[in-house]
Amino acid sequence: MLQSSKIFLEKTEEKKPSIGVILGSGLTKFFEEKDIIITIPYNDLPGFPQPTVKGHSGKLIFGSINNYNVVCMYGRSHIYEGHDPQTLAIPIRTLKEVGCDLLIITNAAGSLNSEIPPGSLMNITDHINWSGFNPLIGDNKENFGPRFNDMSNAYDKYYRQQLSELAQSINQKLFEGVYCMYSGPSFETPAEINALKTIGGDAVGMSTVPEVIVANHCSLPTIAISIITNYAAGLSNTPLSHKETLEQAALAENNILSLIKNFIKVVKFDDPSRNN
Ligand code: HPA
Repeated sequence: MLQSSKIFLEKTEEKKPSIGVILGSGLTKFFEEKDIIITIPYNDLPGFPQPTVKGHSGKLIFGSINNYNVVCMYGRSHIYEGHDPQTLAIPIRTLKEVGCDLLIITNAAGSLNSEIPPGSLMNITDHINWSGFNPLIGDNKENFGPRFNDMSNAYDKYYRQQLSELAQSINQKLFEGVYCMYSGPSFETPAEINALKTIGGDAVGMSTVPEVIVANHCSLPTIAISIITNYAAGLSNTPLSHKETLEQAALAENNILSLIKNFIKVVKFDDPSRNN
């Protein structure tokens, strides 16, 4: 077991989460104070990269949502921060080892699709890894998964469909689409955006894909939701900025967090013994 997993379980006194959540840029308000069991700074967890980007604090919060124990990563690291891509595997493998059966990832993304405007939420159906990186490059850790792992259900259909049905039932508009990862930190050029549109993308961002690859490798079912914060480069006249990303993410924060919390209320695990 990873050192970080052992320390996590010591701190929670062996209480295990069923669900992991990763909060993307600008999202800060997942747990209410009364639902928090314990907060663990990434500094206390060996191998957890420390985020350096505004809008990403570095702590794990373990708490309770609708009778499920949930662990939430407040802030994540990105390849553009200069981390070795393999280090992005540690937090995800820790979530798996401490007991999560489902991972819910959020991110901020630019839209490539004129029908998906800023402010929208998008249920990611698949991805295109245009980052040039893969966090599994290097020695394979056989105890987590095989050298060549299948990615044909990377955004788990069983849970993804439940999310879509729930969104419909609470009148939360939820688009579906393909997320493209670009390494950043510069935003894309209009020519790059044209290329991504042409090859089938609906949104573009600088995160999520490494985490989804690692989660699939260690058989941790995953879904991911983008907050669309802007039209991508060349699709509107507004210059792109991180300030805009944070502002727009904050506007959609209530929508995405209430979607996730409602989802946690109704989700049916594929292992029925996990259902409340
Ligand atoms: N491109 C890449 N990442 C992003 C964008 C974008 O337009 N918006 C928010 N994150």
